Amino acid sequence: MPDIVVPELEAYTEAHTTAPPPHLATVAERTRAELAAPGMMVGAVEGRFLEMLVFALRARLVLEIGTYSGYSALSMAAALPPGGRIVSCELNPVHAAAARENIAASPYAGDVEVVEGPALDTIQGLIGPFDFVFIDADKRNYLNYYGAVLPKLAPAGLIAADNTLWNGRVVDPADLSEDTVGLRAFNDTVAADERVVCVQLSVRDGVTLIRHAGRSG
Ligand SMILES: C[S@@+](CC[C@H](N)C(=O)[O-])C[C@H]1O[C@@H](n2cnc3c(N)ncnc32)[C@H](O)[C@@H]1O
Repeated sequence: MPDIVVPELEAYTEAHTTAPPPHLATVAERTRAELAAPGMMVGAVEGRFLEMLVFALRARLVLEIGTYSGYSALSMAAALPPGGRIVSCELNPVHAAAARENIAASPYAGDVEVVEGPALDTIQGLIGPFDFVFIDADKRNYLNYYGAVLPKLAPAGLIAADNTLWNGRVVDPADLSEDTVGLRAFNDTVAADERVVCVQLSVRDGVTLIRHAGRSG
């Protein structure tokens, strides 16, 4: 599969995006040094993109599905209004512990709560309404996450789902892995769902934005 974004352009994009603050650069460094699969972090450009969305929405309650080491949660936390908060779901206790340490060392300790356990169970116990939801956990469950959060999304809220291009695997008919099949089902279902309006963007590995269908839909 070819790169979704040509590497030279990816580097150019990063060079023309406001650099991460020191605490986030430290999170990225620590994650690369201490955890497996650091490529799971959204990185500098998508981190800023998420921050922009939270800022533009004036999101007070954010739900994140898939914390890892906290990079995306801390990116979003920078744009929360006073009193705003992020609930972030993480299954892996090693990842949850790393994220809690990184959050505690950041300027946003107290704004981000990491809830350990299967995200579907956690979401069931949350009331909402969520102003912004970032889906970035196990790909095979994306449709389940969508079903669980849409009824709890604020009327003017937004869902962002990460990795929806899955490094191009969604258009490879030979790829029948559970995650790829799960992502295709998610992409097809959302695009055909008349309750929502969506746009799939080629930011990094594909980010799909979803809102309730409304007057301008
Ligand atoms: C792609 S990483 C998240 C990256 C993070 N959003 C960031 O950019 O820094 C996905 C995370 O989801 C977690 N995860 C996988 N299955 C899960 C589940 N069922 N419930 C909650 N978290 C899960 C993984 O342990 C992993 O830490």
